Amino acid sequence: MNASSAHLAAASALLLSLTASAAALAQSEPAALVDQHHCMFCHTRDAPFLAPSFQQIAQRYRNVPDAQLVLEQKLRVGGTAHWGDMAMPLPPDRGGPLTPEDAHTLIRWVLSQ
Ligand code: HEC
Repeated sequence: MNASSAHLAAASALLLSLTASAAALAQSEPAALVDQHHCMFCHTRDAPFLAPSFQQIAQRYRNVPDAQLVLEQKLRVGGTAHWGDMAMPLPPDRGGPLTPEDAHTLIRWVLSQ
């Protein structure tokens, strides 16, 4: 290993440990699911983009008691748009079927933002 690749290795080790501790603070991100279903294609964590940000969504539903269930359902079978005029595409158009367990995991994570 030459000096610059040693540097690179040290820098990426540092980055990994920073990322890991940031993730441990929040509800940990179900990264594989998020990737597989392309959530971040339209959403971001904190800035509205093609869709409301996950923080806006968490904020909006903070005091709604059955939000978890309603949103899981919506993520799987769809519903009408009520943020803007574009409804979220259904799972087949996002990356494949979404099981109830996966919907539960994803919504728990979104609502923890
Ligand atoms: C193709 C773009 C797109 C993708 C991909 C996408 N969303 Fe969305 N999402 C939207 C739009 C647009 C809205 C706003 C819909 C509305 O007005 O009700 C939305 C709304 C939501 C809401 C709030 C629904 C409500 O009724 O308030 C949640 C929760 C959500 N998305 C989670 C996710 C998760 C989790 C994923 C990945 C599995 C995902 N989204 C992938 C576009 C997308």
